[in-house]
Amino acid sequence: MSGRMRLRMLPENTGILRSPLHFENADVGGEMVIFNQEKCILCRKCMQDCYPQAIQKENEKMTVSGECMLCGHCVAICPKGAVSICDYEDEPEEYIKEKFQIESDNMLHMIKFRRSIRNYREKIVEREKLEMMIEAGRYTATVSNRQEISYIVVQDKKNELKHMVLKKVEQYVNGENAVQWQEKLFRNASVIIYIVGDNAINAGLAAQNMELMAATLGLGIFYNGYLTKISGSFTEIREFLQIGEKEIQLCFMAGYPAVEYRRTAPRKKPEILWM
Ligand SMILES: Cc1cc2nc3c(=O)[nH]c(=O)nc-3n(C[C@H](O)[C@H](O)[C@H](O)COP(=O)(O)O)c2cc1C
Ligand code: SF4
Ligand code: SF4
Repeated sequence: MSGRMRLRMLPENTGILRSPLHFENADVGGEMVIFNQEKCILCRKCMQDCYPQAIQKENEKMTVSGECMLCGHCVAICPKGAVSICDYEDEPEEYIKEKFQIESDNMLHMIKFRRSIRNYREKIVEREKLEMMIEAGRYTATVSNRQEISYIVVQDKKNELKHMVLKKVEQYVNGENAVQWQEKLFRNASVIIYIVGDNAINAGLAAQNMELMAATLGLGIFYNGYLTKISGSFTEIREFLQIGEKEIQLCFMAGYPAVEYRRTAPRKKPEILWM
């Protein structure tokens, strides 16, 4: 008996296997997913790759009748380009090996060579580079394809934010301490990027892809736990950032590094259980 059959035969209240297949914001019945019947060759690849098993073949046509999480796997896998999702505006990019392939040695080297950058050159970060970083965040995996992450990029109004944050900090510390806090919170980064959403893992994963993207653009970042905490804790700052009831999951500073690292930093050996 196939996995598909077994799942279908489970009674409604067998929560253990059914629950992961219910999605928030699901497109029930797949009204958003369009199959071009003229292009479709009924190969079933879309059906086999659909995680929630929402696609069926009925009367020699592919249709969506279950809960669809709009993950786009059917669009991505179809050999004939017969599937589209009307909820999304961007055109899918065709796979071109040279464009997509990265040498694994280079990839690992870049990950190892990445450092938290806490000293920056006085240089504005170009909008196109920031947009590429956000694009890297946008294409990151999210729990149940929620895609709930949003971004706040503070560059032009950085001094306004800085002033507001330091005023709050000064209520709790003074004198030399306040100067140290200014240093700790802002360094001399050009940009502050907030990642807002309801899931810390989604935000963390997006941020990591953004950091790697930044590295390829000659930029550096450091994650800023203190600023994340302070920014989310005061109404005035939350209002300034226009986040409403949403949660700041993390923020990082970014800019052109003023430091040059000559080698990788040592790390502990990983604890691994090979079984
Ligand atoms: C924290 C986390 C947990 C996930 N858990 C599952 C899972 O249990 N089973 C699964 O098939 N996919 C899981 N996914 C994958 C998401 O469903 C997937 O990222 C999303 O549908 C978008 O598809 P894509 O990653 O191919 O772009 C998880 C993703 C994240 C970020
Ligand atoms: S978008 Fe994802 S969940 Fe929806 S039908 Fe296509 S593969 Fe299935
Ligand atoms: S993958 Fe494309 S061609 Fe194959 S069945 Fe699905 S829609 Fe049709």
